[in-house]
Amino acid sequence: MKIVTAVVKPFKLDEVKTAVKDVGITGMTVTQARGFGHAGGHIEIYRGKEYEFDFVDKIRVEIICTDELVDTLIDAIVQAARTDTIGDGVAWVTDIEHVVRIRTNERGPSAL
Ligand SMILES: Nc1ncnc2c1ncn2[C@@H]1O[C@H](COP(=O)(O)OP(=O)(O)OP(=O)(O)O)[C@@H](O)[C@H]1O
Ligand SMILES: [Mg+2]
Repeated sequence: MKIVTAVVKPFKLDEVKTAVKDVGITGMTVTQARGFGHAGGHIEIYRGKEYEFDFVDKIRVEIICTDELVDTLIDAIVQAARTDTIGDGVAWVTDIEHVVRIRTNERGPSAL
């Protein structure tokens, strides 16, 4: 299993949610986030070190899924979150060792 994490523009959340559900995903976690990318801040020098400021509001989306679904899921997220403007975000994939469905104590893919 994998976890797909994506940072997207907040106004794209509904579209991302719909796209994710359309590929058969049954759960996701959403967190308010702030961040910056290449263009998202200006650099200040403080005591000889460069610091970047100006964090922009983003939404962080986390979805646990089976290995087979990862590519389709990422395609769906990209299609839904993309505006072709700076700051559309990033997505990344991480291996998951174990998932537990708390209500039933099921383990593995059936826990999702
Ligand atoms: N290397 C990174 N690690 C973690 N989060 C990142 C990283 N790069 C970008 N992000 C997240 O994605 C958000 C949007 O950044 P994004 O990369 O889309 O914009 P950008 O780099 O300014 O322009 P571009 O759209 O050309 O990439 C950031 O505010 C931050 O939350
Ligand atoms: Mg970037």
